Amino acid sequence: MSYGECMRLQARELIHKEHVRILAIESSCDETAAAVIENGRSILSSEIYSQIPIHIPYGGVVPEIASRSHIEKLDAVATRALEKAGFSLEDMDAIAATQGPGLVGALLTGLSYAKGLAYGLQKPLLAVNHIFGHICANYLAYPDLAPPFLCLVVSGGHSHVIEVREKGFCLLGCTRDDAAGEAFDKAARVLGLPYPGGPHLDDLAEKGNPNAFPLPLPNPVGAYDFSFSGLKTAFINLVHHLDQKGETPDPADLAASFRHMVVEHLCERTMKACNDLGWDTLALAGGVSANRLLRRELSGLCKEAGVRLVMPPLSLCGDNAAMIGSAAYAQLMRLDTAGLDVNASPALKLFPDERLKR
Ligand code: KG4
Ligand code: ZN
Repeated sequence: MSYGECMRLQARELIHKEHVRILAIESSCDETAAAVIENGRSILSSEIYSQIPIHIPYGGVVPEIASRSHIEKLDAVATRALEKAGFSLEDMDAIAATQGPGLVGALLTGLSYAKGLAYGLQKPLLAVNHIFGHICANYLAYPDLAPPFLCLVVSGGHSHVIEVREKGFCLLGCTRDDAAGEAFDKAARVLGLPYPGGPHLDDLAEKGNPNAFPLPLPNPVGAYDFSFSGLKTAFINLVHHLDQKGETPDPADLAASFRHMVVEHLCERTMKACNDLGWDTLALAGGVSANRLLRRELSGLCKEAGVRLVMPPLSLCGDNAAMIGSAAYAQLMRLDTAGLDVNASPALKLFPDERLKR
């Protein structure tokens, strides 16, 4: 019997186990992370080594440097996660890693490391979709949360409105061009803010006037779709024109005006989906869910509409391995284990065709 077949049988036994503990690894971009998660809901430990200082001189993530740094840190980060959880490797019931989407070299380091552990221990291996992980961060924060619910996924590469169902997902809308995080990063760069731009722009915007500079509200055709490239271009042009005229606008006003329109667009489309389709629970997921205005605005709108809003705590908004462990548990319970032939998948999708609408 192959390793994969053996592990599927072992996974069957785990369905009935009282405490299922998973060591999860995340290495899709610029964080090397490991966590020990119990039953998909409790964080026993969560360790993150951030590579941000390494990439700052380059103004963005350098893929080759990211892969090398992951290789150097993975073992130490995973060992620390086990120590903090108070368990040994042998106590783990399964090993999980992010399969994609992300940087291929970075993904390969974590997935190969997890494969080696799983094979050595003869324990099941779970290959997790990073975006599913972001959604599952909410399960760690809200023990009673269960599908179905509506979810706005906003990260560096995704802006999706998704129905999360017991079995799978349904895509209601997505960006026609840039992702929200990408737009924040590009606008931040124009303002001369350091990488990663999104959080810096958010900080700056807190001190500015959101109505100082009128910018166009995007209006893509699909009712629940997004578009950020026109808004981004309008912002870049605005900054250049002001510069050419020799004006010195307050950067905080510029940041606040841009953030205001991105958040208004995200909220308008998401709340429309929520109201049109009668959802009573909305979840926020992905790195951009740390945005303070987005959190405030959605909280207010959901309160008005009588919709329950769940948002990951700030510690679980960015990339982390705890969310991968939570997603891995859900996969394990579905016996969705991986074989040793599983490969990193830089463009892994949540759906067979992410543009396919219901
Ligand atoms: O989910 P994530 O950590 O990585 C991906 O899976 O892409 O998201 C990273 C993105 C970056 O574009 C980053 O600038 C953005 O999330 N981001 C923010 C904030 N925190 C992170 N954007 C706006 N406001 C924030 N507070
Ligand atoms: Zn992410």
